[in-house]
Amino acid sequence: MYGTENNRDDSERTAFRRAEKKYKLYYDYNASSKNKKKKQPKPVDLAEVLDFRSILECYHQNAVLPSGVIVLHDKFTSPVFALQNRPGFYFIPGALSIEKQCSLIRESLTDFPQPPNRTNHNALYGPIQDLFVAAKEGKLLVEDNSPITSSETYADIDHRDDKEWKFTTEKDMSLRKCRTVSASVLLRKLRWSTLGLQFDWSKRNYDVSLPHNKIPEALCELSKQLAKPALPGGVEFRPDAAIVNYFGLGDTLGGHLDDMEADWSKPIVSLSLGCKAIFLLGGKSREDTPLAMFLRSGDAVLMAGDARECFHGVPRIFTDKENAEIGHLETRLTHEDDICFLKYIQTSRININIRQVF
Ligand code: SIN
Repeated sequence: MYGTENNRDDSERTAFRRAEKKYKLYYDYNASSKNKKKKQPKPVDLAEVLDFRSILECYHQNAVLPSGVIVLHDKFTSPVFALQNRPGFYFIPGALSIEKQCSLIRESLTDFPQPPNRTNHNALYGPIQDLFVAAKEGKLLVEDNSPITSSETYADIDHRDDKEWKFTTEKDMSLRKCRTVSASVLLRKLRWSTLGLQFDWSKRNYDVSLPHNKIPEALCELSKQLAKPALPGGVEFRPDAAIVNYFGLGDTLGGHLDDMEADWSKPIVSLSLGCKAIFLLGGKSREDTPLAMFLRSGDAVLMAGDARECFHGVPRIFTDKENAEIGHLETRLTHEDDICFLKYIQTSRININIRQVF
């Protein structure tokens, strides 16, 4: 599901792939004055990217909308936009207050990746407690109970059954001959965590036998509120799972369908935090040319009904100061305790998508 380099033929095979390639981050390598290669992001043509923030501004000023865009619930938290040719897709620009964005960023880095919630690190390291705090304190994750013996190779260790990793400090490690990885590297490599019912990525389904907590009450309530425009009168949204995606510079989320839930009439509520991104909304085939749109911190997207069958993905995030558009977070995350969150989010994006599975 996550983006990887594809060879040229493959990357140009479908309309969706071509759009991903158009917006993906590539570098130009220019010789600098000292004759060293200096890499610069290749310029990308953003003229066709739909910008719901500008659409909202125009709508507020003169109630005019671009063709194909309709406004649904004018009296909702903020106007809800829909697309004539993509029934079931809804965009709520600036749905989350700055306070809410900050608290969700904090939770996404501290509480959400805590066991029993699983993360992409589980497969290699087992459950990891307090990764964010460990990164802040400069700790190392060390394979605790089984130093390498002289006759073992690292490959042998991968097959041991007694793997157990624990955080320690550089000092405690001193001369021990163990495998280590720094917590800050692991934090940078955190790609997903799952809340509520746990998703098994290898089987691409929810594994109800895995230990799990309910999704946090506040997130549950928020998603119920936001889901309303996508639900016919009185139908209840009962979120029981969420996937949190973490994106750093150059990370992408390849075109995919979210098709593992039993009832597609229920929306997926998808929240954006941190650096601005480009979202591609395709059709039911990868051959359908996708629509590109900006996602900014605080935006919410709903995908329900027909739109649940549409390919979608994130080919680009903008981590540079000029384009990330996180000034409002920089002015709010100023407390000493928030500096680490700010540092993280200045070059990252977090997406929380909340689902009703059954
Ligand atoms: C997803 O489609 O699963 C996530 C989309 C996003 O990152 O906004």
